[in-house]
Amino acid sequence: MLSSTIGLWFLAAGTVSAKTCYNVTVPVSISARNGVFDGLKTPTTNTDATAFVLNMTRQGGNFTDDALTDYDTVSGRYNISTQYCAPNGTVSNGTTLQILTHGIGFDRTYWDLPYNNFNYSYVDYALSRGFQTLSYDRLGLGNSSHGDPKNEIQTFLEVEALAQITRMIRNGSVPGIRSKPSKIVHVGHAYGSAQTYALVAKYPSLSDGIVLTGFSLNSSFTPLFLAGANFQQASQNRTTSTQSSNKYSPGYLSSGNAGNSEFLFFYPNHFDPKILAYAEQNKQPVTVGELLTMASVPTTNDFTGPVFVIDGSNDVPFCGGNCTAIGGNGTSIAAGVKDAFPSAKTFSSYIQPNTGHGLNLHYNATGGYKEIADFLQKQGFAMKMKMKKKTRN
Ligand SMILES: *[C@@H]1O[C@H](CO)[C@@H](O)[C@H](O)[C@H]1NC(C)=O
Ligand SMILES: *[C@@H]1O[C@H](CO)[C@@H](O)[C@H](O)[C@H]1NC(C)=O
Ligand SMILES: *[C@@H]1O[C@H](CO)[C@@H](O)[C@H](O)[C@H]1NC(C)=O
Ligand SMILES: *[C@@H]1O[C@H](CO)[C@@H](O)[C@H](O)[C@H]1NC(C)=O
Ligand SMILES: *[C@@H]1O[C@H](CO)[C@@H](O)[C@H](O)[C@H]1NC(C)=O
Ligand SMILES: *[C@@H]1O[C@H](CO)[C@@H](O)[C@H](O)[C@H]1NC(C)=O
Ligand SMILES: *[C@@H]1O[C@H](CO)[C@@H](O)[C@H](O)[C@H]1NC(C)=O
Ligand SMILES: *[C@@H]1O[C@H](CO)[C@@H](O)[C@H](O)[C@H]1NC(C)=O
Ligand SMILES: *[C@@H]1O[C@H](CO)[C@@H](O)[C@H](O)[C@H]1NC(C)=O
Ligand SMILES: *[C@@H]1O[C@H](CO)[C@@H](O)[C@H](O)[C@H]1NC(C)=O
Ligand SMILES: *[C@@H]1O[C@H](CO)[C@@H](O)[C@H](O)[C@H]1NC(C)=O
Ligand SMILES: *[C@@H]1O[C@H](CO)[C@@H](O)[C@H](O)[C@H]1NC(C)=O
Repeated sequence: MLSSTIGLWFLAAGTVSAKTCYNVTVPVSISARNGVFDGLKTPTTNTDATAFVLNMTRQGGNFTDDALTDYDTVSGRYNISTQYCAPNGTVSNGTTLQILTHGIGFDRTYWDLPYNNFNYSYVDYALSRGFQTLSYDRLGLGNSSHGDPKNEIQTFLEVEALAQITRMIRNGSVPGIRSKPSKIVHVGHAYGSAQTYALVAKYPSLSDGIVLTGFSLNSSFTPLFLAGANFQQASQNRTTSTQSSNKYSPGYLSSGNAGNSEFLFFYPNHFDPKILAYAEQNKQPVTVGELLTMASVPTTNDFTGPVFVIDGSNDVPFCGGNCTAIGGNGTSIAAGVKDAFPSAKTFSSYIQPNTGHGLNLHYNATGGYKEIADFLQKQGFAMKMKMKKKTRN
């Protein structure tokens, strides 16, 4: 059955690069216990979208609980749109593969931004340090299968998709990935970090190490995120609705305008104004089911591998705009994530200066990439580099 997908492989063309990338559609058969939110009519207009956010942000309540009527098993066969990258000439066994999960507002290109000749590319940097990468559009988004935005596309099912992709890579059943990585590290951004966190809580043996970027377990600032996004129906926004090969149905919401994107992802004076325009032009939506379940991750995690958390100093959704402002005795909000990992082999956290929530879109993005790669290298993940080191800058 998998051989039918081999024909979907093709070389990503058009970029002058020291990397070779393959786009592949990976079919996964998965099921999950999802929430049934029959207490909520899927918002279909922009007015409904705002009413939904008012419900979600109202103090003193828990709208997820109000809307939840039951749990039910959702199963399906879905296509996941992925991109696998390796440095030119180094398809070899024994390397570490990083599986990259993007956050809300983006697709997999968050990790390999073509902007400014790829000099913001996380993938390029990781490759230059001897890793291989697999990025993918999360289930429900971009060129991966879309689904019902309320009862289907939720955290629980998406985590199963990530787990299944990981298993397929581990047992060598993803066509086109000719090398079997000796180690797999999972790296997330924001909601993608929450899914990475949930993955290793449920299936600790699937990952050898995790990096959570733009992440904390402090949910106090979620209302800033929800309100600041000014969510609208993605289907009514020409920008979002043309960003993938298949359309978004009502209940897929996208942030309103460039000002909203700036509020959610950027720290003023530390980014190129044109990259904000780029992010707005390429923005991706979120489903109401994701918003209702994004906090549905366990409070503690028995993962035993190494854990690294890195946040932009001025992250709004996870730090309220200041990751070092903490009542108490810790050093940062990122450092506070340690309490959730009593069994981690190593825990380390880092605050990337002069940076907002969208770490990869700031001038000094590669400074943060270096911190991540240094951590992973110290944990023994770097490849023994036989090739000549080729970087873009
Ligand atoms: C492969 O995916 C990338 C985004 O990850 C996209 O920019 C590129 O156009 C795709 N390549 C092809 C040949 O479709
Ligand atoms: C890397 O490989 C790709 C595809 O095989 C090729 O187009 C590109 O020119 C190569 N780049 C370098 C720097 O060797
Ligand atoms: C908001 O909550 C009220 C009361 O729980 C409910 O009747 C209404 O359907 C909800 N609307 C949306 C769009 O969430
Ligand atoms: C809100 O309700 C959901 C569903 O019952 C529950 O899983 C979650 O823990 C609740 N959140 C809080 C902060 O109590
Ligand atoms: C997955 O993609 C293949 C090839 O484009 C298509 O034939 C198939 O119907 C898709 N499956 C799903 C579940 O969307
Ligand atoms: C990797 O190892 C497998 C066997 O485990 C072998 O079939 C494959 O050819 C190797 N790939 C490379 C690029 O060496
Ligand atoms: C759609 O997005 C653009 C920016 O990309 C924004 O200027 C516009 O107001 C939005 N339109 C609607 C109807 O929300
Ligand atoms: C998704 O598909 C569209 C249309 O085929 C293409 O333009 C776009 O580059 C693809 N996006 C990704 C992330 O592959
Ligand atoms: C962030 O919080 C710390 C600790 O309260 C404070 O010293 C610092 O000035 C704050 N940073 C900004 C930019 O407000
Ligand atoms: C921080 O405070 C808590 C309780 O207030 C205490 O249990 C803990 O030991 C303190 N940690 C440090 C590093 O001082
Ligand atoms: C990319 O290049 C631009 C222009 O040279 C520069 O301003 C920016 O800091 C660079 N960004 C990264 C992440 O290297
Ligand atoms: C860029 O990032 C690195 C790594 O965090 C840091 O050491 C350096 O001070 C940063 N540079 C600026 C100008 O913020």
